[in-house]
Parts: sequence; structure tokens; C-alpha cells
Amino acid sequence: MNSTTIDHPLHDFIRGLPKAELHLHIEGSLEPELMFALAQRNSLKLPYASVAELRAAYDFADLQSFLDLYYAGAAVLQTEQDFYDLTIAYVQRALADKVRHAELFFDPQTHTARGIPIETVFAGLARALREARVEKNFSSRLILCFLRHLSEEDAFATLDAALSLRENYKDLWTGVGLDSGEVGNPPEKFARVFAKARELGFHVVAHAGEEGPPAYIHAALDVLKVERIDHGVRCEEDPALMQRLAQSQTPLTVCPLSNLKLCVVRDLREHNLARLLRAGLRVTINSDDPAYFGGYINANFIATADALQLSRDELVQLAANSFSASFASAEQKQHWLVELQAYQAS
Ligand code: HPA
Ligand code: ZN
Repeated sequence: MNSTTIDHPLHDFIRGLPKAELHLHIEGSLEPELMFALAQRNSLKLPYASVAELRAAYDFADLQSFLDLYYAGAAVLQTEQDFYDLTIAYVQRALADKVRHAELFFDPQTHTARGIPIETVFAGLARALREARVEKNFSSRLILCFLRHLSEEDAFATLDAALSLRENYKDLWTGVGLDSGEVGNPPEKFARVFAKARELGFHVVAHAGEEGPPAYIHAALDVLKVERIDHGVRCEEDPALMQRLAQSQTPLTVCPLSNLKLCVVRDLREHNLARLLRAGLRVTINSDDPAYFGGYINANFIATADALQLSRDELVQLAANSFSASFASAEQKQHWLVELQAYQAS
């Protein structure tokens, strides 16, 4: 059934719902069409004959099988204009999905390892986000992620390089995160670099409990002292941890279609998002790597609402959580929550 052509009040309600996106890897929003266009512009040859062939390769068994393609795809990003084009394309999708505020992850090491200066990455992302702020009232932040399969020393070098740009991008770059292959790369590996980031006044988040065990969520909280957990769905295996997360109201940035595509769950109807929400955890819905996982944030909301029979009140709660869990100012949050209430009442 094509949900875009059939009248469906709940889907329409979701499409109009003001929301924030807190778990979005900008490199994961690189659509195959743009990947081909950038490859051509930069005189690179992709190992696929067509967009359709590339899309057909997006059949993942686990996180690593996705990451292999994701890092290979990111190699087409070379110039400031490439990073700008990537980001503007995401912003347009987000605006269409009524995203008011987005906190974008980016992976500098994926680019600096290929000889792309970190300045180029920052400049392209920031030009697009500032333009969107001025022209479309689109609010955003950048969260620099360390690749956890690399060393802490490499993370320190990345942080140091980025710090020389901090003043230029202080309107946007306000957090650090931790992503890439989780199992075997526990949070403890990055204890010192996260301590430094906290000392410097950055917000801190980390992927944990996507493929890794509940112990990684504990470590992200206790050792890295993160303010949000990205994914976190495996917390359900540890009832004491569930209670802790409900009590602390630490946000979880859950990505249902990602979990489905990476075989974290076999079927969306088995996803624990509704159970977590109903147990009082501060859950949000996000798209993670939408170009690879089959949908942007509204597609994630719609598929999850259908699979788990979420009510309108629960959908509003999820949207409210997305604003309250964001790193925007208290004043901005209040403004969006008022808008959300008005939408609910309309
Ligand atoms: N998990 C870990 N690392 C990532 C992901 C993810 O879902 N997406 C991009 N990098
Ligand atoms: Zn992610």
C-alpha cells in the first residue's frame, strides 16, 4: 500500500507534526543520485553501473556490512561545495517533514583520512545550515562524532584539529558523539577524550546498546557521562537499567527503520519503542542514515506508528520529547512545545 496516495488521517497527522531530529548522520543522507552526481563532478568511478544497482546493494546483515558501504560512499565528498550540496539536500527533506530543529552528526575522520581538510567539511556543512537558518528558519547544531573503531589518540587529534575552528563555528558545533562499529569498541576506550570535551563545555552523546550490550549503555552514562544515548534499545535486557533511564529521563534517540535494516529487529512489530515509551523512558524517533535505511523521519514515524499502533497522544509525546531532549535553548524549546500544543489542539 502506498501511504502517500491513500487518505490516511494518522499519517497526515504525523506529516504535519512539528518535530526535531536528534540522530542523523549527515553522511548517511547521501542519496544514490547525489552520490553519482558527485562522483562524476569529481571524476571518480563508483563500482556500480547505476543508481538502481547501488540501491540494490543496500541489503545489510548487520551494522558493519552497512558501515562498509557508508564509508565507501562518503568518498565522493571532496569539496566544500560537495558538503554544502549534501547538507542542503538533507535540510530540504527535513523541512518537508516539518523538522524545526536538527542536530547533525558528522564524522571528520572519514574525510581527513582521505586527505580532505577538516576545514572543508566544517565550511560546507555550516554554509548550508546557516543559509537554512536565515532563509527557512531551520534551527540546527553539529555534533562531531569520533569513530570508535579508531584509537582514542586519533580521536584526540581530531578534536584538537577541530578546536582550532571552534570560534568560527560556535553557533553550530556544540557537541561530540561516538559512532561506528560498536561491539569490541566500548565507551571506556574514549574516557579521556570525552572528559576533555566535557571540560571544554561540549554536550556529549554516544551510540550505545544498538548492537552492543546494556553494559555499554551503563559505561556511556557512568564513564563518558553522556546526556543522551543514541539507539539504546538493548537497555530492555537489563531491567535495572530500564528503571534508571526512566528515572533519569536520559533521552534515547531511537531509529526504527535503521534497526530494521541492520537486523537489530526482525520485524518492526517486534520493535521495543512502544514498550520503552510506555515504561516512561524519554524516547525519540529519528532516521539515522535515511538514504541507506529507506526513509526520512516521517517515514520512520509512520512505519513505527503503523507497526506498534501508536496513538496520537503518543506521537505528540514523541515529538515533545524530541524538542525537550535537544540542545536548543530553553526559550527555543518552549516556543516549539507551544507550537506542538497548538497543532495537537487544531
Ligand atoms: N551506528 C553506528 N555508527 C553509525 C551509524 C549507526 O547506526 N550510522 C552511521 N554511523
Ligand atoms: Zn547512528
